Amino acid sequence: MRTLADNIWLMPDAYILGIESSCDETAAAVVRSGEQVVSNVVFSQIVTHQPYGGVVPELASREHLRAIVPVVRKALADAGKTYQSVDAVAVTQGPGLAGALLVGISYAKALAFALDKPLIAVNHLEGHIHAVLLEERQKGNLDLRFPVLALVVSGGHTHLYLAERQDNSWSYQNIGHTRDDAAGEAFDKVAKLLGLGYPGGPIVDRLFAHGNPDAVKFPPSQLKNRDRNERGMASPEGGPRFDFSYSGIKTAVLRYVETHNMQNAIAERRKAISAIPQPRFEDYLSGCDRQTLDLVASFQRAMVQDLARKTLAAARAYNVETLFVTGGVAANQELRRQFEADAAREGLPVYFPSRPLSTDNAAMIAAAAYPRFLKHNFAAMDFSAEAGMRLK
Ligand code: KG4
Ligand code: ZN
Repeated sequence: MRTLADNIWLMPDAYILGIESSCDETAAAVVRSGEQVVSNVVFSQIVTHQPYGGVVPELASREHLRAIVPVVRKALADAGKTYQSVDAVAVTQGPGLAGALLVGISYAKALAFALDKPLIAVNHLEGHIHAVLLEERQKGNLDLRFPVLALVVSGGHTHLYLAERQDNSWSYQNIGHTRDDAAGEAFDKVAKLLGLGYPGGPIVDRLFAHGNPDAVKFPPSQLKNRDRNERGMASPEGGPRFDFSYSGIKTAVLRYVETHNMQNAIAERRKAISAIPQPRFEDYLSGCDRQTLDLVASFQRAMVQDLARKTLAAARAYNVETLFVTGGVAANQELRRQFEADAAREGLPVYFPSRPLSTDNAAMIAAAAYPRFLKHNFAAMDFSAEAGMRLK
């Protein structure tokens, strides 16, 4: 049985400065040897995008430009480091918004060039997976068993990867992804259509406890095309696939709203919330009637159960030893409870990042860069942003 303790972590300390700017968070962090978060600074652009009900790419780039220098400076100061005393600069190459990625990449290149430090390009999705590894090492848990099945569930992705490690090389096989909306996108769109602001996930998460999750029954998500059943289609490597689909549930919520004449109440709530400069959770809660709270709770229950059911089915089919659940939606409390209960029933250990490292951050980028640092797998100065970058 191979575990994390086997080899690579007996190397000299390396302090990596990570930079992340793929979406609506400008983040920088210093991580020691992929195992200790020394500093972690995240500047969220939520306030900028809130009035538009979603991320506006041009505004995201502009905000990254404003924030990147002070955010990096603070990450170094919090870590007690200088620009000169870090060992490498790591940056998110993709996937993400091209203009947003370019801000982080250009700054990281400039820093690496001026300081004569190695530059490391990191896949954002690999970062989410390494958020779990980083924190388990930090807790002293070196007994993780492979293969690992990782569910990366965020605003842009609902992807299942088999993760394998050989010495300092990691490889990933995608065995499932969403055919349409990502899970976080469904949370955000449903919250928006119910007049609950942006981003929807954290609000829905907290409203869940106030509604009846059994009030509204949503049919299980149906995959069109060849594989109606979730094991019908093979992955490129030959194993079964476990795809997701979340645009149907969003439409079902919309239909429920229409057939139950909820539109007026939603319009009033939207107006009331938009009049509050920085709405608090209590403002959302007091603006919701019972019917809305029940609908929200039922929606979340359906999402969480579908994510857990498919992921556990994939874990069985691929006979994995360990489960990771990571990405913004992994911050969801009910999702954690559901996965913990289901995985325990199967005797499968399941790990999540802490909630601050579930959503976008740069510590995960610096952690994912460490194995590349050890291998001297550095980026050329002319590498570019890859908006649709895949993880392999
Ligand atoms: O990983 P992340 O910060 O950015 C992307 O890479 O997309 O994920 C953001 C997504 C958003 O859709 C947000 O609504 C969702 O994660 N999210 C949550 C929670 N916190 C953030 N969804 C459900 N429950 C939460 N507590
Ligand atoms: Zn992310």
